[in-house]
Amino acid sequence: MQKSPRITIGMVIGCTAAIGLSAYALAASPIPMQLWLIHPLDSLKLAQGDNPHPVKLITPVIAPLSAMAELGKTLFYDPSLSGSGKESCASCHDPHNAYGPPVGSGPVMLGGPTGHSAGFRAVPSLRYLYRQPPFTIAPDPTGDNDTVVTLSQQAAQAADSPRVPKSVNNTHTSAANLVPHGGLFWDGRVNTLQQQADGPLFNPVEMDAGTPARVATILELGPHATLLRQLFGQSVFDNPNHTVSEAMFAIARYQIEDPGFHPFSSKYDAWLVGKARFTPAELRGYLLFNDPNKGNCAACHLSQPTRDHLPPQFTDAQYEALGVPRNPNIPANGDPHFFDMGICGPFRTDMSKQTQYCGLFLTPSLRNAATRHAFFHNGVFHDLTQVMDWYVNRDLHPERFYPKDAAGTVIKYNDIPAEYRKNVDTFDAPFNRHPGDAPALTQAEQADIITFIKTLTDADAKNQPD
Ligand code: HEC
Ligand code: HEC
Repeated sequence: MQKSPRITIGMVIGCTAAIGLSAYALAASPIPMQLWLIHPLDSLKLAQGDNPHPVKLITPVIAPLSAMAELGKTLFYDPSLSGSGKESCASCHDPHNAYGPPVGSGPVMLGGPTGHSAGFRAVPSLRYLYRQPPFTIAPDPTGDNDTVVTLSQQAAQAADSPRVPKSVNNTHTSAANLVPHGGLFWDGRVNTLQQQADGPLFNPVEMDAGTPARVATILELGPHATLLRQLFGQSVFDNPNHTVSEAMFAIARYQIEDPGFHPFSSKYDAWLVGKARFTPAELRGYLLFNDPNKGNCAACHLSQPTRDHLPPQFTDAQYEALGVPRNPNIPANGDPHFFDMGICGPFRTDMSKQTQYCGLFLTPSLRNAATRHAFFHNGVFHDLTQVMDWYVNRDLHPERFYPKDAAGTVIKYNDIPAEYRKNVDTFDAPFNRHPGDAPALTQAEQADIITFIKTLTDADAKNQPD
């Protein structure tokens, strides 16, 4: 095995914390990070907090909203569509909180006819979904696809395919793993923003809008009728399903066109283009986040721009079973037989036979994660300190996170039925630890990673207080 050169920032400027840095093999990345650590000038720039190799980033063009998107915007904020008459998309996807759950809400949002029915999952941010690919079980989609392959055929193929462990060193190789990838919602059950919008609209614990006929009537009698006719033609109200689907198309256009859904105004974006300087703690956090022997976070939460200069989304859009603890504050979890198993159900129904995917959830973007107070699909953790503690100690001190059974044995990964707990990722760092091993990150290092994650917060959003 090739031995990695170990260089410490402390050697360069005498930083207080001497961080052991392994060489990175991000050869295919537009930023060859390994060079920064080998060249004295690059490491000097880095040690001063500067990006040694600023890049140009290609972000969505900013233009006035089309009439379609303007209509979508009004609908996004319109509570009259909901069953209670009180809930709009913005009630759960708060524009003042990066379109994630509003400050002060619980692990899941309340909705339904009286606004008191609890949901099942944490509300994701609606930012940065514009590049989310459709759901497949294949290497990252490459375009032309002339043979139609069903998802179960893909799953069967994937079952025989070996899997490369994910490391910051090999994100290009692991992108070729035959694993579930893409799609929207925590389980990828819909592909496009348009398909997605009528999910919450008709979901009885969300907007609870009733039938398409009800929504179509509200739209026809409401203030948007003229615009709907102008945009979609006189026949737009002839068929309620058609009416709803056009209205949802408008909401999707709003999310795609409005720069508020992809502002790229974080300190990290400014750092990438060479217009901001990291503090020493941010720099340490950045390096730990990207170090395959430390956080290894960037193996899944991709942190580097793509080869064609698109800014990083902080997700590889793949699915993993991390085995987060069950959240007793979700009312549905009062039933010991109820399990939210992600890809294999119960909210998604087409993959229930693919039990190798039970417990797998979409890797979320970490952009604006520091503004959240409900983490993971079930909102079980409330701040990043708890998240980091669990990442580092999941298998070292499981008794701190999971309950015990009658015999006193800790029930690790207790939010997944026992027979599927083998799906939990125990091979990608930092999940490859065993009791007695040294923790992947010290407490000070965990704090540094949190400080780095705060640089991913957009200018108009606010980090949660520590
Ligand atoms: C009662 C709260 C609530 C309301 C109201 C609501 N949503 Fe959501 N939204 C959620 C939750 C919870 C999820 C995650 C659900 C899941 O994964 O099954 C979600 C997921 C999404 C996603 C997928 C995001 C991702 O990262 O995959 C989109 C897009 C979305 N909602 C858009 C909308 C739109 C558009 C509206 C209005 C028509 C709306 N939502 C109304 C709670 C809500
Ligand atoms: C093997 C892939 C993988 C690695 C490595 C990884 N994560 Fe994650 N991360 C995920 C997945 C998958 C989820 C969602 C799991 C769920 O909800 O059940 C997640 C969720 C999160 C969340 C919650 C975000 C939200 O919106 O709820 C945070 C914060 C986070 N990860 C930070 C980190 C940090 C920091 C590291 C490095 C110490 C890291 N992750 C390493 C895959 C990974």
